[in-house]
Parts: sequence; C-alpha cells; structure tokens
Amino acid sequence: MDKHVYELLNDQINKELYSAYLYMSFADYYEDEGLSGFANWYMIQAAEERDHALIFRKYLLDNGCSVKLKAIDQPDKTFSTYLEPLEAALEHEQYVTALINDIYGAAHDVKDYRTMKFLDWFIEEQLEEETNAEDMITKMKLFGTDAKALYDLDKEYQARAYSVPTPLAGE
Ligand SMILES: [Fe+2]
Ligand SMILES: [Fe+2]
Repeated sequence: MDKHVYELLNDQINKELYSAYLYMSFADYYEDEGLSGFANWYMIQAAEERDHALIFRKYLLDNGCSVKLKAIDQPDKTFSTYLEPLEAALEHEQYVTALINDIYGAAHDVKDYRTMKFLDWFIEEQLEEETNAEDMITKMKLFGTDAKALYDLDKEYQARAYSVPTPLAGE
C-alpha cells in the first residue's frame, strides 16, 4: 500500500477513537444535566465511532499492514447550553467528512481503487452523520425551550439502540 495512503488510514483509527472519546464527553455532560436520553444517544454514537476505528484497523490488517496506535487527545470542551454539544457534533462530523475525502483523494492519486471502494461506506456514513447532527440542532432550536417538548425529545433519544455496522457484521 502507498505510504501516504497507509498513514492517513492509520491516523483515521486515532481520529475515530477521538470521536468516540468526544461523544462520551457529550454523554457525560447530558447525564450531569439529567438528560439521560441525550446521554444514551451519545454513548451509542461513541460505540459507533469505536466501530469505525475497528473497520479501519481491520482494513489495514486484511491488507497486510501493521497498525500503529497513537495517543488519543483529551476532549476539553465545556458547555453552557444544551445546544452547544449538538453544534460541536456537527462541526466535528464536517471535519471528519473532510478527513475521509482527503483519504479518498490520496487513494485516487495513486490509483488505489480498493481503498476508494472501501471508503465508499464511510462517504455514505458521513452524510448520515451530518444529517443526524443537523436534525438534532433543528429539534433543539424548535423544542429545547419548552420543558414538556424537551422531555419528549429526550425520550426519543433514549430509544436509540446500538447495532453493529455492516462492515463489522459477521466478525
Ligand atoms: Fe466515524
Ligand atoms: Fe461520526
């Protein structure tokens, strides 16, 4: 595998694990605020991000590449409104989309069609991630100031359940 493509794929393991860490910190914030549904949503989000890291790990190992695990940054954001983590999540997902696009571009440059095909799942996943993040912001802006509506929204997020992402299914 091309060295630059390898390094980007290996770094993405770290970025996805950081995403898991970041979303866990969001869950901690909402748990402290008594919004256990939002906390549940972000703990499942954290599990999905961990899974994303595992998908990149598996791809490298399947291709005979060694994995180099690096230190994970500390999430250091503090929040003063319920909306702030949701906006930080959208910003973060847009950043991750840019990272995935960069890897795709690097793979394209060296005609690494296998890696491009592998990344297709992530390109679609990032659209879903950004859509979800935008939807949560919209709902919080619409309903966040009404106690009963916020209660219902929290219940809605409480219902989110974990499912194994397709690339890891059957592992
Ligand atoms: Fe991810
Ligand atoms: Fe994500």
